[in-house]
Amino acid sequence: MLTGLVTMRRKLVVGNWKMYGRLVKNQALLQGVSEGVRQLNGADYAVCVPYPYLAQAQSMLQGGNVAWGAQNLSPFEEGAYTGEVASGMLVDFACSYVIIGHSERRGLYHESNETVAQKFAAAQKSGLTPILCVGETLSERESAVTEAVVATQLDAVLDHFGAAALSRAVIAYEPVWAIGTGKTASPEQAQAVHAFIRQRVAKHDAKVAEGLCILYGGSVKAANAAELFGMPDIDGGLIGGASLVAEDFVAICRAAQ
Ligand code: PGA
Repeated sequence: MLTGLVTMRRKLVVGNWKMYGRLVKNQALLQGVSEGVRQLNGADYAVCVPYPYLAQAQSMLQGGNVAWGAQNLSPFEEGAYTGEVASGMLVDFACSYVIIGHSERRGLYHESNETVAQKFAAAQKSGLTPILCVGETLSERESAVTEAVVATQLDAVLDHFGAAALSRAVIAYEPVWAIGTGKTASPEQAQAVHAFIRQRVAKHDAKVAEGLCILYGGSVKAANAAELFGMPDIDGGLIGGASLVAEDFVAICRAAQ
């Protein structure tokens, strides 16, 4: 049981730009986000940009209250891995976060739970905060195996590294059927899975579970953010499409106040 432990979790809103952006467009977007979020202080904010734009994000966001990060990394420190990017390289650009195991990487690039766990460890070893994505497909939900799928994805990290590793990580629950589809999980549907995740971690360590930041991702918009973020186990959002429009992203950040 988690009752009796009173931890006020701070909310977090993270933009996931995916493979969108160009130098000139980013400039306006980063400026709009940085200015729009400047007066907000009730939550934490970040954007995860494509690798080539990390330097731009760093130069435009440093000194403000929006952190930045990447969307993937290599599990290896260095070596002959053409096209890969190591965690130390992300540290060179002062990244705070890195998204790990996004469903697009699991699905399109066949990343296994094992690989995801290795990447999680590589991120933490370099001092980056991994944002570990979990979530079921539509057919998995329809077959009523959502909890089993999420448990397997979570256990890949929990069993390897223990609950203590999650005290320096963020979880993002992203039902695959809600990503980029305009079809958001209802606050109740999301809350149920968030509570399940927290309880599963609590079986290992109740204190870590209570402090764990669990984001919801999947068609979060300014219009539905407040309701989702109002649920007891939803600690913010991982925002795709809406993070590409400064005023939409800022409105979502405001909803996390
Ligand atoms: P979406 O993407 O907000 O565009 O649905 C979320 C994500 O994939 O992180």
